[in-house]
Amino acid sequence: MKIAVISDIHANYLALSKVLENISTFDKIFCLGDLILAGYDPNSTMDAIFKLKDRLKDDFVIIQGNTDKMVANCTDELIQKTKEAFACMGYSLEQDIKITKPEYIEYVRNLPEKRNLVINGLKIELVHGSPRNQSENIYPSLENDKVEEMVKESSADLILCGHTHIPCGYSLNNGKIVVNVGSVGRPMDEDKMPTYLELLIDDEGKFLFEHKKVPYDKELVKRHILTRNFKHCEDLANMF
Ligand SMILES: [Fe+2]
Repeated sequence: MKIAVISDIHANYLALSKVLENISTFDKIFCLGDLILAGYDPNSTMDAIFKLKDRLKDDFVIIQGNTDKMVANCTDELIQKTKEAFACMGYSLEQDIKITKPEYIEYVRNLPEKRNLVINGLKIELVHGSPRNQSENIYPSLENDKVEEMVKESSADLILCGHTHIPCGYSLNNGKIVVNVGSVGRPMDEDKMPTYLELLIDDEGKFLFEHKKVPYDKELVKRHILTRNFKHCEDLANMF
């Protein structure tokens, strides 16, 4: 069985489209959240997510990311706090909630924070940050003990996460495997290429995985973001 795990799309419709071209024949797609905030086209991104949901039915599994929760429960106070902490994100959030279709905001509001699945006996947990916290960072070069602490409440063999936008993986002493799948829409590693995880599971539940990168036109994304024309949007564009 061939599964693609995608995460952190952040309204980057071009990146999502390129990744979806690569995974069109996969048996299942798992999506680990952060769909709308701070990109250039939340509605086309969500149109594509809804098409996946309709095409794959139970083979499309999706959870909520921390910024989906921000978008869904946005208040003036949250916008102000976000502007103070990270200006371009705050100004984007303010505009994102105005331009995104209400049904899409309602959809991300109602997504579950995690999902547990069993495939051919393999127990898999899907989370955005870590099993204990939707906003916790599992990034490269953590000590194994720290990662073990973060995932200790999980009973899964394989824990799949996103949130940091940097792909990495851990094989823990307790036998668990933890994989951060990276980001489709705003990758933060060196080459900043849209990234997803290809996961192969055999009939006995044995698995193999590989991070896959998809080349695309970053300059075009920057130009799209600049057309949003909110305050500090050039800082967001420079992140690509
Ligand atoms: Fe994210």
